[in-house]
Amino acid sequence: MSETPTELIGGRYRVQAVLGEGGMGAVYRVWDENLQVVRAVKVLHAARTLKEDARQRMQNEARAMARLRHPNVVVVHDVVTSESGDMFLVMEHVEGGTLEDRLNERGTVDAIEAITWMVDVLKALELAHDEGIIHRDLKPSNLLIGPDGVKLADFGIAQLADADETLTQEGIGMGTRPYMPPEQWYSASTVDGRADVYAAAATLYRLVTGEIPKSLWLKDASDPTFASISEPLRKVLIRATRTRPESRHAAVAELRLDLERARSILEGNPPPKQFPWVSCLLVAAILGGGSALVGGGMFAASLWPTATPNPPQPLPVPTTTSEPPAAPEPERDAPQPAVRPAPQPRPVPEPIASPPQAPDLAPDPAPAVPEPVVELPQIKAFINSLPPGAEIRLDGESLGSTPFVGRLPEGEHAVELHWEGQIAVRRVVQMTGEEYRFCWDTRIGAVCPR
Ligand SMILES: Nc1ncnc2c1ncn2[C@@H]1O[C@H](COP(=O)(O)OP(=O)(O)O)[C@@H](O)[C@H]1O
Ligand SMILES: [Mg+2]
Repeated sequence: MSETPTELIGGRYRVQAVLGEGGMGAVYRVWDENLQVVRAVKVLHAARTLKEDARQRMQNEARAMARLRHPNVVVVHDVVTSESGDMFLVMEHVEGGTLEDRLNERGTVDAIEAITWMVDVLKALELAHDEGIIHRDLKPSNLLIGPDGVKLADFGIAQLADADETLTQEGIGMGTRPYMPPEQWYSASTVDGRADVYAAAATLYRLVTGEIPKSLWLKDASDPTFASISEPLRKVLIRATRTRPESRHAAVAELRLDLERARSILEGNPPPKQFPWVSCLLVAAILGGGSALVGGGMFAASLWPTATPNPPQPLPVPTTTSEPPAAPEPERDAPQPAVRPAPQPRPVPEPIASPPQAPDLAPDPAPAVPEPVVELPQIKAFINSLPPGAEIRLDGESLGSTPFVGRLPEGEHAVELHWEGQIAVRRVVQMTGEEYRFCWDTRIGAVCPR
């Protein structure tokens, strides 16, 4: 951007303050000299505007927001490319800061209040999904507090079902790691509405515990991770954060109803009755309406071929840990994604340089710093057993049998080997670095001799 904060953006918007600064650009509170009102303007960094994919992304963001006229979605007024080639998005200014700010300033949120906020957000997401838009980056710093409730912002990586371009490619994960479901790690382009179901639950988890939601799909009701959350809400959060999308709420509307029931219980009222046909109607509506929203999950078919409607969650068996114990997940700068080969050159997602301290991961209250939008690296994995032929389960899902050679997303995983129908070993490991190697000798019950 050629303008500095003391100048006019696009010859019209006078900068009053910086509201947020990200890898793609900055968001300013501005004074609209023409209409004489306060607005928020998101500006693409000049270098970014030269890249077609960054421009496309902002265009997408503007179109997604414009399509969603909802009290819980930030209103977009315009997206402008100035004569000098700068690009900016003009939005309503929401005064109350983000839910991340709220957490940092006043600590955790009461469960009933947090559910009430999330119910509003889920209503907005219901509309978005109906319109074929999946947000894919739901988290506290993308939720703004307005006078009449919370507003959903930052559709920067939203997926528009009818968009002609491919800003997200299969095999490239985008989003903010702690709030992302595992399928999004593999590929942002194939996720469906249940990715937002996961992120909504992870966001709620963060609001009520103050903790970063790390690998919630690995945790079950017995895990201390959920211990501080009251039971009605805990049950909902656990269901919404399962590894397999099929095991979660089928749609944001279903999650909303479940949360409303949990809130009734927490308020001391009998929960509203749920008739089975409500769920049936919901599922039918989704199947009939937004095929793009339920048609994703390609990752499951390719990575977990033994998909079943109600897969088992990771088994509560004793865990042996040879690798370092689960350390806080590091947020990484995104590496350059592989460039799409000719002959059909398409825009490649632009990795946004992460700051040294990401707000969603920083335990200390950090001032507004850029948010991480990461592309998750995959690392080489070799998993074997003696004798070979043991069933491998990764995070509770079958990976086939040993030997396995392939690529797995970096991060914390539960690896299990099953031999003759019995679990032989279970390890929670950090897959980092160049490659991950593991071999288990089922005959002696120990790591394979070298
Ligand atoms: N309409 C708005 N009103 C007030 N603050 C906003 C608005 N939009 C964004 N912000 C602030 O700017 C920050 C970054 O905006 P966001 O749209 O999330 O962009 P990024 O792509 O950089 O994450 C937000 O976390 C919030 O603090
Ligand atoms: Mg953001």
